[in-house]
Amino acid sequence: MKNPLLLEKELWGSEISNRKPKWEVAQKIAKRLKKGDVVGIGSGSTSFLTLVALVQKREKDGLDFSALSTSIEIELTCKALGIPVTSLRVENPNWSFDGADEVDPNGNMIKGRGGAMFREKMLMKACSEIYIAIDKSKLVKNLGEKFAVPVEVHPDALNTVQTELKRLKPAGIDLRQAVAKDGPVITENGNLILDVKFNKITDDMEQKLKSIVGVIETGLFIGYKPKIVLSD
Ligand code: A5P
Repeated sequence: MKNPLLLEKELWGSEISNRKPKWEVAQKIAKRLKKGDVVGIGSGSTSFLTLVALVQKREKDGLDFSALSTSIEIELTCKALGIPVTSLRVENPNWSFDGADEVDPNGNMIKGRGGAMFREKMLMKACSEIYIAIDKSKLVKNLGEKFAVPVEVHPDALNTVQTELKRLKPAGIDLRQAVAKDGPVITENGNLILDVKFNKITDDMEQKLKSIVGVIETGLFIGYKPKIVLSD
């Protein structure tokens, strides 16, 4: 395999924040790899680094594995690293890993900074052994302290969803804007993302958001009880 640092520059592009603790936690997770595993791969920079750590382990110990990916970004990384990609349509993962934006003391999470929460949640539902790899900056006392909740919305439902969301008394609602394109972010499923800031997130909020017609998925992950793997 190419030098991982060069690969990172080519495949991830931008500099990864908190790289050192993310790489540390990636290596802890790579120890779980066994020959022939179908591994569910989350998205974001920690998942990217964990995938690279898995490939290093594969090269060192001869442990071939296949990947079930949650985004185009991860699929392209798998292609570059020579990892066969499968899908939830044909297989369930033996185990999975992902990152998170915020994790509370009960393991509840906000995810979706990278906009991949729809497929990430499907993976979470499909797999009973899921590791969330985080550095300590992701730990919060209460969800919503730092991040808004991403809500993926069908474009035709934008106005009606915004009206329904206002009934939940959010502190703010922002249509997520693209960086290298004019106008809003379009997700890999052809939808829009509203970033909804709440002062208080109750345990029933995920269900309340999901019950709004036109909401495809949200970045609130309440009650999934994943195994949290922290950097030292
Ligand atoms: C992707 O949409 C997200 O859910 C990521 O898993 C989350 O934002 C964590 O990203 P980093 O590992 O890049 O911090």
